[in-house]
Amino acid sequence: MTRVLEVSQVHKYFGGVRAVQGVSLAVQEGNVIGLIGPNGSGKSTLLNLIAGVMKPTKGRISLDGQRIDGWPAHRIVEQGIAKTHQIPKPFLAMTCRENVAVAAMFGSNKQKDQSEALETAGRVLTLVGLEGKADSISSNLTVQERKRLEFARVLGTGARILLLDEIFAGLSPEELRDAIGMFTQVQKEVGFGALVVEHVMRAVLTVSGHVVVIEEGTKIADGSPREVVENPAVIEAYLGAEAVHAPT
Ligand SMILES: Nc1ncnc2c1ncn2[C@@H]1O[C@H](COP(=O)(O)OP(=O)(O)OP(=O)(O)O)[C@@H](O)[C@H]1O
Ligand SMILES: [Mg+2]
Repeated sequence: MTRVLEVSQVHKYFGGVRAVQGVSLAVQEGNVIGLIGPNGSGKSTLLNLIAGVMKPTKGRISLDGQRIDGWPAHRIVEQGIAKTHQIPKPFLAMTCRENVAVAAMFGSNKQKDQSEALETAGRVLTLVGLEGKADSISSNLTVQERKRLEFARVLGTGARILLLDEIFAGLSPEELRDAIGMFTQVQKEVGFGALVVEHVMRAVLTVSGHVVVIEEGTKIADGSPREVVENPAVIEAYLGAEAVHAPT
Protein backbone atom coordinates (compact mmCIF):
# COMPACT_ATOMS: atom_id res chain seq x y z
CA MET A 1 0.00 0.00 0.00
CA THR A 2 1.26 3.49 -0.85
CA ARG A 3 1.56 5.46 2.35
CA VAL A 4 0.22 8.99 2.56
CA LEU A 5 1.00 11.62 5.17
CA GLU A 6 -1.57 14.42 5.43
CA VAL A 7 -1.12 17.64 7.36
CA SER A 8 -4.35 19.55 7.67
CA GLN A 9 -4.76 23.10 9.01
CA VAL A 10 -1.98 22.64 11.54
CA HIS A 11 -1.12 25.44 13.99
CA LYS A 12 1.65 25.69 16.59
CA TYR A 13 1.93 28.57 19.03
CA PHE A 14 4.80 29.11 21.49
CA GLY A 15 3.16 31.58 23.87
CA GLY A 16 2.70 34.64 21.69
CA VAL A 17 4.81 33.29 18.82
CA ARG A 18 2.64 31.86 16.05
CA ALA A 19 5.24 29.55 14.51
CA VAL A 20 2.84 27.60 12.27
CA GLN A 21 -0.56 28.94 11.25
CA GLY A 22 -2.97 26.69 9.39
CA VAL A 23 -0.56 24.80 7.11
CA SER A 24 -1.89 21.92 4.99
CA LEU A 25 0.14 19.63 2.74
CA ALA A 26 0.43 15.98 1.75
CA VAL A 27 3.38 13.68 1.11
CA GLN A 28 2.88 10.41 -0.68
CA GLU A 29 5.39 7.55 -0.64
CA GLY A 30 7.53 7.85 -3.78
CA ASN A 31 7.17 11.63 -4.03
CA VAL A 32 9.53 14.35 -2.85
CA ILE A 33 7.97 17.59 -1.62
CA GLY A 34 10.19 20.62 -1.01
CA LEU A 35 9.41 23.00 1.88
CA ILE A 36 11.02 26.42 1.64
CA GLY A 37 10.65 29.76 3.39
CA PRO A 38 12.69 32.45 5.16
CA ASN A 39 14.52 31.86 8.46
CA GLY A 40 12.07 31.46 11.31
CA SER A 41 9.09 30.77 9.02
CA GLY A 42 8.17 27.55 10.85
CA LYS A 43 9.73 24.82 8.69
CA SER A 44 11.56 22.91 11.42
CA THR A 45 8.59 23.35 13.75
CA LEU A 46 6.32 21.74 11.15
CA LEU A 47 8.71 18.77 10.83
CA ASN A 48 8.82 18.47 14.63
CA LEU A 49 5.01 18.43 14.79
CA ILE A 50 4.83 15.64 12.20
CA ALA A 51 7.59 13.64 13.92
CA GLY A 52 5.84 13.85 17.30
CA VAL A 53 8.60 15.92 18.92
CA MET A 54 5.88 18.43 19.82
CA LYS A 55 2.09 18.54 19.61
CA PRO A 56 0.15 20.91 17.35
CA THR A 57 -1.89 23.61 19.07
CA LYS A 58 -4.65 22.93 16.51
CA GLY A 59 -5.12 20.85 13.40
CA ARG A 60 -4.76 17.27 12.26
CA ILE A 61 -1.91 15.07 11.04
CA SER A 62 -2.69 11.64 9.63
CA LEU A 63 -0.91 8.69 8.08
CA ASP A 64 -3.01 6.59 5.71
CA GLY A 65 -6.12 8.20 7.18
CA GLN A 66 -5.20 7.40 10.79
CA ARG A 67 -4.72 10.38 13.04
CA ILE A 68 -1.18 10.52 14.52
CA ASP A 69 -0.88 14.06 15.95
CA GLY A 70 -0.19 13.91 19.66
CA TRP A 71 1.41 10.48 19.39
CA PRO A 72 4.85 10.16 21.03
CA ALA A 73 7.84 10.32 18.68
CA HIS A 74 8.81 6.66 19.10
CA ARG A 75 5.36 5.52 17.95
CA ILE A 76 5.58 7.72 14.87
CA VAL A 77 9.00 6.30 13.95
CA GLU A 78 7.53 2.82 14.34
CA GLN A 79 4.82 3.80 11.86
CA GLY A 80 7.46 4.60 9.23
CA ILE A 81 7.99 8.36 9.53
CA ALA A 82 11.52 9.50 10.47
CA LYS A 83 13.19 12.90 10.73
CA THR A 84 16.76 14.17 10.51
CA HIS A 85 17.95 16.92 12.86
CA GLN A 86 18.77 20.34 11.41
CA ILE A 87 22.01 20.03 13.41
CA PRO A 88 23.17 16.41 13.08
CA LYS A 89 22.90 14.48 16.32
CA PRO A 90 24.70 11.15 15.93
CA PHE A 91 25.84 9.21 18.99
CA LEU A 92 29.33 10.71 18.80
CA ALA A 93 31.19 7.90 20.55
CA MET A 94 29.72 5.27 18.24
CA THR A 95 30.86 4.29 14.77
CA CYS A 96 28.71 5.12 11.75
CA ARG A 97 27.71 1.48 11.48
CA GLU A 98 26.60 1.36 15.12
CA ASN A 99 24.64 4.62 14.74
CA VAL A 100 22.64 3.27 11.81
CA ALA A 101 22.23 -0.12 13.51
CA VAL A 102 20.57 1.61 16.49
CA ALA A 103 18.15 3.24 14.03
CA ALA A 104 17.41 -0.16 12.48
CA MET A 105 16.69 -1.66 15.92
CA PHE A 106 14.31 1.08 17.04
CA GLY A 107 12.67 2.25 13.80
CA SER A 108 9.84 0.65 11.86
CA ASN A 109 12.25 -2.17 10.92
CA LYS A 110 12.49 -3.17 14.59
CA GLN A 111 15.37 -5.48 13.89
CA LYS A 112 15.85 -7.22 17.23
CA ASP A 113 18.93 -9.11 16.16
CA GLN A 114 22.06 -7.01 16.58
CA SER A 115 24.07 -8.64 13.82
CA GLU A 116 21.14 -8.24 11.40
CA ALA A 117 20.88 -4.56 12.33
CA LEU A 118 24.62 -4.11 11.75
CA GLU A 119 24.24 -5.77 8.36
CA THR A 120 21.39 -3.42 7.43
CA ALA A 121 23.58 -0.52 8.57
CA GLY A 122 26.37 -1.62 6.24
CA ARG A 123 23.95 -1.74 3.29
CA VAL A 124 22.52 1.71 4.08
CA LEU A 125 25.97 3.28 4.51
CA THR A 126 26.95 1.95 1.09
CA LEU A 127 23.77 3.48 -0.39
CA VAL A 128 24.69 6.93 0.92
CA GLY A 129 28.38 6.61 -0.05
CA LEU A 130 29.73 6.26 3.49
CA GLU A 131 30.93 2.66 3.20
CA GLY A 132 34.53 3.78 3.69
CA LYS A 133 33.58 5.39 7.02
CA ALA A 134 31.43 2.56 8.40
CA ASP A 135 33.86 1.83 11.23
CA SER A 136 34.93 5.41 11.90
CA ILE A 137 33.84 7.06 15.13
CA SER A 138 31.12 9.60 14.30
CA SER A 139 32.81 12.47 16.11
CA ASN A 140 35.63 12.28 13.52
CA LEU A 141 33.32 12.93 10.54
CA THR A 142 33.33 16.09 8.41
CA VAL A 143 30.19 18.24 8.12
CA GLN A 144 29.32 16.60 4.82
CA GLU A 145 29.77 13.11 6.27
CA ARG A 146 27.64 13.96 9.31
CA LYS A 147 24.83 15.10 7.01
CA ARG A 148 25.07 11.82 5.14
CA LEU A 149 25.09 9.85 8.38
CA GLU A 150 21.94 11.70 9.46
CA PHE A 151 20.29 10.69 6.18
CA ALA A 152 21.56 7.10 6.65
CA ARG A 153 20.01 6.97 10.12
CA VAL A 154 16.51 7.79 8.84
CA LEU A 155 16.92 5.29 6.01
CA GLY A 156 18.10 2.72 8.57
CA THR A 157 14.81 3.01 10.46
CA GLY A 158 13.05 1.65 7.37
CA ALA A 159 10.90 4.80 7.14
CA ARG A 160 8.70 5.25 4.07
CA ILE A 161 8.17 8.97 4.72
CA LEU A 162 11.34 10.96 5.45
CA LEU A 163 11.41 14.42 7.03
CA LEU A 164 14.72 15.98 6.00
CA ASP A 165 15.84 19.22 7.66
CA GLU A 166 18.56 20.95 5.62
CA ILE A 167 20.60 17.89 4.69
CA PHE A 168 22.21 19.83 1.82
CA ALA A 169 23.39 22.78 3.94
CA GLY A 170 27.03 23.73 4.41
CA LEU A 171 28.41 21.83 1.42
CA SER A 172 30.91 23.04 -1.19
CA PRO A 173 29.62 23.22 -4.80
CA GLU A 174 31.19 19.84 -5.67
CA GLU A 175 29.95 18.22 -2.47
CA LEU A 176 26.48 19.60 -3.22
CA ARG A 177 26.50 18.15 -6.71
CA ASP A 178 27.54 14.76 -5.32
CA ALA A 179 24.93 14.92 -2.54
CA ILE A 180 22.12 15.72 -4.98
CA GLY A 181 23.24 12.84 -7.24
CA MET A 182 23.40 10.45 -4.29
CA PHE A 183 19.98 11.55 -2.98
CA THR A 184 18.30 11.14 -6.38
CA GLN A 185 19.79 7.68 -6.83
CA VAL A 186 18.79 6.47 -3.35
CA GLN A 187 15.27 7.90 -3.68
CA LYS A 188 14.80 6.05 -6.96
CA GLU A 189 16.11 2.83 -5.47
CA VAL A 190 14.28 2.94 -2.11
CA GLY A 191 11.15 4.76 -3.33
CA PHE A 192 10.55 6.70 -0.11
CA GLY A 193 8.43 9.83 0.11
CA ALA A 194 10.10 12.90 1.61
CA LEU A 195 9.40 16.37 2.90
CA VAL A 196 12.62 18.25 2.21
CA VAL A 197 13.25 21.49 4.11
CA GLU A 198 16.01 23.38 2.39
CA HIS A 199 17.51 26.82 1.79
CA VAL A 200 19.86 25.59 -0.94
CA MET A 201 17.63 26.30 -3.95
CA ARG A 202 19.65 24.24 -6.38
CA ALA A 203 19.09 21.18 -4.20
CA VAL A 204 15.43 21.63 -3.37
CA LEU A 205 14.39 22.53 -6.91
CA THR A 206 16.29 19.58 -8.38
CA VAL A 207 15.07 16.86 -6.02
CA SER A 208 11.43 17.95 -5.51
CA GLY A 209 8.47 17.24 -7.76
CA HIS A 210 6.38 19.78 -5.86
CA VAL A 211 7.34 22.69 -3.61
CA VAL A 212 5.45 24.31 -0.71
CA VAL A 213 6.43 27.82 0.41
CA ILE A 214 5.75 29.16 3.89
CA GLU A 215 6.22 32.62 5.32
CA GLU A 216 5.60 33.49 8.98
CA GLY A 217 3.98 30.10 9.52
CA THR A 218 1.52 30.45 6.64
CA LYS A 219 1.55 28.71 3.29
CA ILE A 220 1.90 31.38 0.61
CA ALA A 221 2.34 29.18 -2.47
CA ASP A 222 2.72 25.66 -3.76
CA GLY A 223 3.31 24.14 -7.16
CA SER A 224 6.01 22.73 -9.41
CA PRO A 225 9.55 24.04 -8.80
CA ARG A 226 9.19 26.26 -11.88
CA GLU A 227 5.79 27.65 -10.82
CA VAL A 228 7.11 28.44 -7.39
CA VAL A 229 10.26 30.30 -8.50
CA GLU A 230 8.17 32.36 -10.91
CA ASN A 231 5.49 33.21 -8.33
CA PRO A 232 5.69 36.96 -7.51
CA ALA A 233 4.66 36.44 -3.86
CA VAL A 234 7.48 33.92 -3.39
CA ILE A 235 10.01 36.20 -5.06
CA GLU A 236 8.91 39.05 -2.80
CA ALA A 237 8.94 37.01 0.41
CA TYR A 238 11.93 34.82 -0.07
CA LEU A 239 13.86 34.60 -3.29
CA GLY A 240 14.54 38.21 -4.23
CA ALA A 241 14.28 39.49 -7.81
CA GLU A 242 17.76 38.29 -8.86
CA ALA A 243 16.84 34.65 -8.16
CA VAL A 244 14.32 34.58 -11.01
CA HIS A 245 17.08 34.58 -13.60
CA ALA A 246 19.45 32.43 -11.59
CA PRO A 247 20.19 28.99 -13.00
CA THR A 248 18.68 26.18 -10.97
N1 LIG B 1 10.74 25.44 21.17
C1 LIG B 1 10.45 26.71 20.83
N2 LIG B 1 10.04 27.60 21.74
C2 LIG B 1 9.72 28.87 21.41
N3 LIG B 1 9.76 29.36 20.15
C3 LIG B 1 10.17 28.52 19.20
C4 LIG B 1 10.53 27.15 19.47
N4 LIG B 1 10.89 26.56 18.30
C5 LIG B 1 10.76 27.50 17.35
N5 LIG B 1 10.33 28.66 17.88
C6 LIG B 1 10.04 29.90 17.13
O1 LIG B 1 9.14 29.54 16.08
C7 LIG B 1 9.45 30.23 14.89
C8 LIG B 1 9.71 29.24 13.77
O2 LIG B 1 10.96 28.58 14.01
P1 LIG B 1 11.51 27.39 13.12
O3 LIG B 1 12.74 26.88 13.78
O4 LIG B 1 10.42 26.41 12.86
O5 LIG B 1 11.88 28.15 11.76
P2 LIG B 1 12.60 27.61 10.45
O6 LIG B 1 11.72 27.95 9.31
O7 LIG B 1 13.01 26.19 10.63
O8 LIG B 1 13.91 28.56 10.39
P3 LIG B 1 15.38 28.26 9.80
O9 LIG B 1 15.26 28.36 8.31
O10 LIG B 1 16.21 29.38 10.36
O11 LIG B 1 15.82 26.91 10.28
C9 LIG B 1 10.63 31.14 15.22
O12 LIG B 1 10.11 32.40 15.57
C10 LIG B 1 11.25 30.45 16.42
O13 LIG B 1 11.95 31.37 17.22
MG1 LIG C 1 14.83 25.22 10.67
